Amino acid sequence: MGVRILGIESSCDETAAAVVEDGARLLSSVVASQVATHRPYGGIVPELASREHLRAIVPVVGQALVEAGCSLRDLRAIAVTHGPGLVGSLLVGLTYAKALALSLRIPLIPVNHLEGHIHAVLLEEGMRQGAEIEFPALALVVSGGHTMTLLAGRSGNRFQYTVLGKTRDDAAGEAFDKVAKLLALGYPGGPIIDRLAPHGDAAAVRFTPPKTKGNPLDFSFSGIKTAVLRYVQAQAMAEEIEPRREALRTQPAAPLEWYLRMCSRRTLDLVASFQAAVVEDLVSRSVAAARQHDVRSLIVSGGVACNSLLRRRFRRLPPADAMPVYFPSPALSTDNAAMIAAAAYPKYLESESAGLDVPADAGLAL
Ligand code: KG4
Ligand code: ZN
Repeated sequence: MGVRILGIESSCDETAAAVVEDGARLLSSVVASQVATHRPYGGIVPELASREHLRAIVPVVGQALVEAGCSLRDLRAIAVTHGPGLVGSLLVGLTYAKALALSLRIPLIPVNHLEGHIHAVLLEEGMRQGAEIEFPALALVVSGGHTMTLLAGRSGNRFQYTVLGKTRDDAAGEAFDKVAKLLALGYPGGPIIDRLAPHGDAAAVRFTPPKTKGNPLDFSFSGIKTAVLRYVQAQAMAEEIEPRREALRTQPAAPLEWYLRMCSRRTLDLVASFQAAVVEDLVSRSVAAARQHDVRSLIVSGGVACNSLLRRRFRRLPPADAMPVYFPSPALSTDNAAMIAAAAYPKYLESESAGLDVPADAGLAL
């Protein structure tokens, strides 16, 4: 039996546990989503998130062990997200992980959530056993809570990260969610906007790309959100939006056909134009960062990495910018614990572990 690490992740709104062997074999990955809990609010309510984590943590860890065909005694370390994230949420996973590590007398390996997202890609590439990802790499971590580019370097089992650009305001996923809330498209907004956008004309509404004073690699998504709001007001779209909001109360997870019936051409065009503008901005700033640092590969991870247009745009970079681009599968793009267990393996090999006093750190930097 190889080195089996149990990963635990509870930084935001998913309670997740997974068992990964030797950092490269995924034995199980269980994710309990809280989407239904937060849906009525159109965003994550931190107090509800901690309460749901408390309910889910024991069964989720139990299920991850059962699915991996593994008992607690087979584990060699417990890996856990200790930040960044919602502090009340982080504490649930971290406290449980500490208790497990203490009772099993095995190392506790704290993992930065953002490093986890990057390792989701390394784990899956490792499972494919193809050519290894070449470093230095440019990593774009783009989710509901984060949007940043990082320069990732590797020397054996040690990884170093330098943040090159980050959002000054909203994360890209947050912009998807807020625009979906404004247009009454349901929650979370990213997946539904992704599915509606191909039905609209992405050139219909022009959004001016944000200018970020200072670091040109920084992102900003609050301006586009406001631009969508102004467009909605100028075009008097409330008449269409409010009935949809009302109807969504009774069927929160409506099928695509329902949305297509309930959305005018103008809404579909707006959605397509919004998505195209956000994706264009993510791609162009990532490519600029990659060029500046002469990287050998691109890694794109986090919930928004599920976006089909984003994937297409990165896969079809112009020849001058083309380089290998890696995405996790959709299941490992959004929050999960496999990425946490995978990120912990090289630390395990380097005997990097923490004492039981390691704190949850909501603003933990990478
Ligand atoms: O990584 P994740 O599960 O949690 C955070 O750490 O935030 O990401 C969730 C975010 C949400 O904002 C959601 O709307 C967005 O990822 N998302 C997408 C897509 N699927 C999920 N955004 C755009 N297109 C998608 N297909
Ligand atoms: Zn995340």
